[in-house]
Amino acid sequence: MTPRKVSILGATGSVGTSTLDLVERYPDRFEVIALTAARNVEALADAARRTSAKLAVIDDPSLLEELRSRLVDTGCRAETGRDALAEAASGDAELVVAAIVGCAGLEPAMAAVEAGKTLALANKEALVTAGDLMTGAAARSGSVILPVDSEHNAIFQCLAGNDCKQVSKLILTASGGPFRTKSVQEMASMDARAAVAHPNWSMGAKISVDSATMMNKGLELIEAHHLFGCPSGQIDILVHPQSVVHSMVEFIDGSVIAQLGSPDMRIPIAFALSYPDRVDTGVERLDLSKVATLTFESPDPERFPALRLARAALEEGGSAPVVLNAANEEAVTAFLGGRIGFLDIARTVEEAMARTSASAPRSIADVIDIDRSARALAQHLMTELAA
Ligand SMILES: NC(=O)c1ccc[n+]([C@@H]2O[C@H](COP(=O)([O-])OP(=O)(O)OC[C@H]3O[C@@H](n4cnc5c(N)ncnc54)[C@H](OP(=O)(O)O)[C@@H]3O)[C@@H](O)[C@H]2O)c1
Repeated sequence: MTPRKVSILGATGSVGTSTLDLVERYPDRFEVIALTAARNVEALADAARRTSAKLAVIDDPSLLEELRSRLVDTGCRAETGRDALAEAASGDAELVVAAIVGCAGLEPAMAAVEAGKTLALANKEALVTAGDLMTGAAARSGSVILPVDSEHNAIFQCLAGNDCKQVSKLILTASGGPFRTKSVQEMASMDARAAVAHPNWSMGAKISVDSATMMNKGLELIEAHHLFGCPSGQIDILVHPQSVVHSMVEFIDGSVIAQLGSPDMRIPIAFALSYPDRVDTGVERLDLSKVATLTFESPDPERFPALRLARAALEEGGSAPVVLNAANEEAVTAFLGGRIGFLDIARTVEEAMARTSASAPRSIADVIDIDRSARALAQHLMTELAA
């Protein structure tokens, strides 16, 4: 078997390290071409050394010399900067895993799509902010976008090639996050440590806070629209605290097909890496007799306004999803730094959306411009909130 050439963008994060775990488990199946990180030079160099990567890219230029010295006796080139990141995304790899967090992952994800790569997409913010541009580019280049997000990966598996005409609705499940049963008053005093303590999944800090506000499910709603072509009205959200049913598809004949598994990202990542084959992931098998009870409930848009805001952004279209995402990224960073309260995250996003009326982005440069302005506005709004 010729190994599949793989690059991992965001190799030092939660999804990135789970991907490395799988790639290193199957050295005969996967050959690592490029790995990237923002600042974690030690983990990046270690992973590049272990996997015999050809290129390692660090986002922070002040760490390039350290990366070079850590890789000096290997055949791995160390680089920094946008061009190097674009090279990691569009160079020799056949499959690119997009696991950078936030809109920072958009340009390299787009570079991979334009180069016709298979894109294993975890970086949902890329599709949220530039979904039409990315799917349009994929249609032109022949790039295939395989969803890594567990919900979208589940839907992809349930659809099994059926298009939206056979579907009456997509049902995205949500754990409800750590504050599922908390009142608004209780949520007001929750700090970053409480917000990142997800009951079922081990994830990076940003997506963990997004799960606590349920903005994560809102972003996934927009992601699902772009991946599967279904309008907002055909995508439901259902809270399922056990995180065993990863999502479902209801077909026009009334059949509902669900995908189940242990809540471990290695399952959807492995599916995307080895598609259309399946490989043993080493993940603990789902034992439904131990789980015993699966429960479902409707989400509460009053306690979790981020859901309502994301649906409004999808339905409004244009620049609204970019503004939603940018304001959310800034507010989550501020919350993690202890500068705003938990409820201020959704307040900031709502106000940023209300005060912006940019026209629809027609290029990635437009998306980046709108993103930048929305971040500045969110910073200003947070200063107002603090006053
Ligand atoms: N974690 C999950 O289980 C999960 C599930 C579904 C979807 N996702 C999505 O997958 C993406 C990654 O999530 P994660 O939880 O793995 O995040 P994470 O643990 O925070 O890792 C983020 C990765 O991106 C790198 N990075 C951060 N900022 C960057 C920048 N400005 N430029 C270049 N690289 C940058 C980080 O490098 P450093 O380590 O050097 O900072 C790290 O390698 C997100 O879009 C998330 O929504 C995650």
